[in-house]
Amino acid sequence: MNSDVTMEKIVSLCKRRGFIYPGSEIYGGLSGTWDYGHFGLALKNNIKRIWWNMFVGSRDDMYGLDAAIIMNPRAWEASGHVAGFSDPLESGKMFNTMFKTSVGAGEDATTAYLRPETAGGIFVNFKNTVDSFHPKLPFGIAQIGKAFRNEIAPRDFLFRVREMEQMEIEYFVRPEKWEESFREWNSAIYRYIDAVGISRASVHELEVPEEDRAHYSKRTIDFEFDFPFGRKELSGLAYRTDFDLSAHAKASGTDLSYLDEDPPAGGKQRFTPHVIEPSFGVDRTILALLVSAYTEDELGGETRTYLKLNKDVAPVKAAVFPLLKNKPQLVAKAREVRASLLQATGYGLQAIQWDDNGNIGKRYRRQDEIGTPACITVDFQTLEDDTVTLRDRDSGAQERVVSADVAQRLL
Ligand code: GAP
Repeated sequence: MNSDVTMEKIVSLCKRRGFIYPGSEIYGGLSGTWDYGHFGLALKNNIKRIWWNMFVGSRDDMYGLDAAIIMNPRAWEASGHVAGFSDPLESGKMFNTMFKTSVGAGEDATTAYLRPETAGGIFVNFKNTVDSFHPKLPFGIAQIGKAFRNEIAPRDFLFRVREMEQMEIEYFVRPEKWEESFREWNSAIYRYIDAVGISRASVHELEVPEEDRAHYSKRTIDFEFDFPFGRKELSGLAYRTDFDLSAHAKASGTDLSYLDEDPPAGGKQRFTPHVIEPSFGVDRTILALLVSAYTEDELGGETRTYLKLNKDVAPVKAAVFPLLKNKPQLVAKAREVRASLLQATGYGLQAIQWDDNGNIGKRYRRQDEIGTPACITVDFQTLEDDTVTLRDRDSGAQERVVSADVAQRLL
């Protein structure tokens, strides 16, 4: 693990630079909740976009879903969560960690739950998806959304929270194909880890023994990450068999089987598909990414901190500075440079920031701390030869580049 990093440093940077704040902070906080600020939200959106493009947008075999967070409570009875989604209290008594709420008014009110995993919404929409799109097996349904768990001991910043966001896929396969699909998703998880920029050297697979597996799983691999507080689960890959579809079919009375019109043995075949489930936590991804990216070094005789984020996840892609803010010619030229960068890159104003505040060194430090890969300074020489200073975040190296050539360096 990156030896500079501690949780205190990450939490402090996140607050100072507008990434993540304690939930309801002015009231003393609420344990297990965190609020994403401007840059944290941009980072989160970038991560979700990468995941969605990789696993849904760029594939023919995937369908998206955005199901309701509050579901008919019978769904959680059928899935086994009402009976078994529990953790032991110190007294040894089991405590169900699903959040309860009530739906409806007065005497009509019934107890319902906030979903503890997004997977539930996927299983209850299996039939809808099959009826609407007639997908051929294997195919998957993907969903990104909030999930809630009344964790007994929330801790370690974003690691164990009570309100989190998950990115989940239920991938439906012919029963005899589960191992092949499990292997494919195992590799796919690394493609995602690499794409967001989590350090691969810090990721380890744990074959979860039977006694530790969720009630629905016949095989689970936990992908663990070396967090500063220890090696802990980052995401999971589970073989859920036909447990969920069969349980929902039985409890709801709805046929959730699949008619394969082109099975390998010929003819037609009706059966309940089996499921491979790669499951990712958005918040844990962000924490692992921050731990991977956090770097301290010495530059120009001073210690500095920067986030080594790749350009796809970085909240800000570049920042443009006029050397001095009281020189109208410099400011006008810098605005022109920024406008042409916006046009050439297609990025929005938020992605190419303007900063004319304080000396250039301070502006570099601010951008370093939020992980901006490049800074562009417009100075007096720019007015003569249309070159700017392009400064690289990681090396701190500066070079003169013709302003029209900068855009291609950012992409
Ligand atoms: N549908 C399968 C499922 O929910 P899980 O291992 O309980 O499996 C999946 O959760 C992922 O959700 C975890 O790998 C983790 O990234 C994230 N996660 C679960 N509980 C969490 C919590 N309390 N705080 C933050 N993330 C959590």
